Amino acid sequence: MSQYKKIDEQDIAFFTQVLTSANVRTTDDDIQRCAADHTEDLSFLPEVVLLPENTTQVSVIMQYCHQHLIAVTPRGAGTGLSGGALPVWGGVVLDMKRFDKIIHIDTHNFQVTTEPGVITQVLMEAVREKGLMYPPDPASKGSCFIGGNVAENSGGPRALKYGVVKDYVLNLEIVLADGTIMMTGANVLKNATGYNLTQLIVGSEGTLAVVTKIVLRLIPATEQTLLMLVPFRKAVQACEAVNTILLAGCRPSALEFMERDAIAWSMKYVAQSTVSLPEDIAAHLLIEVDGNDMDLLMKEAETIASELTQYDIDEILFADDNQQKEALWQLRRKVGEAVKSHSVYKEEDTVVPRACLPELLHIVKEIGREYGFHSVCYGHAGDGNLHINIVKQNMSDEDWQQKLPEGIRKLFKEVVRMGGTISGEHGIGWVQKPYLDIAFSASQIALMQSIKQVFDPKGILNPGKIWC
Ligand code: LAC
Ligand code: ZN
Repeated sequence: MSQYKKIDEQDIAFFTQVLTSANVRTTDDDIQRCAADHTEDLSFLPEVVLLPENTTQVSVIMQYCHQHLIAVTPRGAGTGLSGGALPVWGGVVLDMKRFDKIIHIDTHNFQVTTEPGVITQVLMEAVREKGLMYPPDPASKGSCFIGGNVAENSGGPRALKYGVVKDYVLNLEIVLADGTIMMTGANVLKNATGYNLTQLIVGSEGTLAVVTKIVLRLIPATEQTLLMLVPFRKAVQACEAVNTILLAGCRPSALEFMERDAIAWSMKYVAQSTVSLPEDIAAHLLIEVDGNDMDLLMKEAETIASELTQYDIDEILFADDNQQKEALWQLRRKVGEAVKSHSVYKEEDTVVPRACLPELLHIVKEIGREYGFHSVCYGHAGDGNLHINIVKQNMSDEDWQQKLPEGIRKLFKEVVRMGGTISGEHGIGWVQKPYLDIAFSASQIALMQSIKQVFDPKGILNPGKIWC
């Protein structure tokens, strides 16, 4: 039985007074929309969807929910892959989509202050117009919100060269569970003043506070890219080549791995045939270099190509123009959706020290054989971050429900043995919760639970996530 209070007419009347009735939604459309995110086919109905547009409103709502013990699930664009935005205990979904303003682009200090409901790509393009770059580029950048990226500490292909979201967050405005409003730090590049509350909130998946304003560091934009697609006859060699390229001193802005099925299914999904896929090709690396000097980029691409001659590869495809680059990137970015449309699936987000990538791929396939599952692997090979999509195909429902979790546990244990962990960029949320004990000891989990207790003693913020 839920410890949380059910929403009643009095609650609705209060929310309406704060937000007006247009922003207090109980229609089927809104409830269904906020019941799911992009995680498998999961669905949990909220009781009401609230659409605040400013920090004071969020504060008043939180104060009320705190007082009345109402569960609150903050929501960005709902593109999450670990169920972080699912209202598993019902209650309120705090839909942040009206927080959609870029407040200020500070071209003198290379910073942007933004609300959390801005689409990541919109933010990227706005700062690029000023000659600046915000690099973290999750596959869903065209639809995800920057606030969700902060909540999950998202990554993306360019993390290899430029880092992930945490590397850009300087300061946050947050609202605590009891409605208290505060900034977490300062708008500076260095900060040795007290505990780092900013970075505690980044990646906390909406369990500690609601983020209402974000200050990000920016860098000068790079103007040029070269993109190459390298077909390998042995998938494990594609993984080995990753380290060879990096040890040769190259610094690609992306180094992405795709198994054959990943690219084949994606081509089918987006109805595109940019890539010819001979029978004997097992995997591809998509490699991008970026900078401002085309001669240097050509040189780097040549070094990469010459390092790759030691592997069993087919002809390298160099993207000729922006259209072809975009087509190749589209294929890569759509892999997740393509797999989803193909079969019932589970997506894992393992990450290991980069040199262990070939071993990880080998182990995934071995465990797959033992437990009878087919997997499609792809991801950010340069970061050692392998997305493993386990597809149900012919597995019986019983095996899928019972045997598969055992196989996943075994896989995660291997990942941790290699020095890796169970999520690189998708978060723990709802679906990876059963496996958290593999990544952390009981005392580590207890320490994190006590942090949660300090921030949210009544446990109303995004309940049911990470460990509870
Ligand atoms: C990707 C998402 C699934 O890399 O993280 O496509
Ligand atoms: Zn990814």
